[in-house]
Amino acid sequence: MHIKTASTDYPISNLLRERWSPRAFNSQPVEKEKLQRLFEAARWAPSSSNLQPWSFIIGFKGDDTYNKIAATLVEFNQLWALTAPMLLLAITKNTNQRGEPNRSALYDLGQSVAHLTFQATADGLFVHQMGGFDSKRTIELFEIPAECSVATAIAIGYIGNPDSLPDNLKKLETTPRERRQSIDLVFTGTFGQPTDIFNQ
Ligand SMILES: Cc1cc2nc3c(=O)[nH]c(=O)nc-3n(C[C@H](O)[C@H](O)[C@H](O)COP(=O)(O)O)c2cc1C
Repeated sequence: MHIKTASTDYPISNLLRERWSPRAFNSQPVEKEKLQRLFEAARWAPSSSNLQPWSFIIGFKGDDTYNKIAATLVEFNQLWALTAPMLLLAITKNTNQRGEPNRSALYDLGQSVAHLTFQATADGLFVHQMGGFDSKRTIELFEIPAECSVATAIAIGYIGNPDSLPDNLKKLETTPRERRQSIDLVFTGTFGQPTDIFNQ
């Protein structure tokens, strides 16, 4: 079992157990059919009033879009994300058809990216989302409309060799993944009151 496979308390889908966010990617490009499937998966996510507020800007290593996304990343992310053959921006539209605020816009985009992520896992790909980027700069560089916002930059590709990374990052590739306990995040009655579903 890979060190990053989730050590779960209960059995869950292998796709969920085996997904993780690597920093070392392989230079192998992502095949066109897999790219198409990634965005097909993203497209079929649920959303409030079926508004589907998400959109994506994708760049491939060597092209102008990739270089522009790369330039917006914070220094820490530039240390590793540029090993990925593909970078994208995840964008959401914050208003509905009437121009009123869509309170679910960010939530819905997150679900869409989750769909994309699990399709990626099913296709042997890895996804690493990044909040560490200059969103103002992406708005200028990519002429993002005023009603939209850029939530994350994302690196996608096949897994690479951790030895390609600086020492401090190399270690993170082999550190087991950790999570809060279910008992601390599932409540009943009032917030903070534990449920007994996890008792043996
Ligand atoms: C919205 C979001 C923003 C993130 N931003 C960064 C980032 O800027 N740099 C980074 O190295 N990882 C980033 N991550 C990755 C998280 O650190 C990672 O998902 C978390 O530690 C859990 O690890 P796992 O995905 O391998 O299970 C981000 C993840 C999400 C969902």
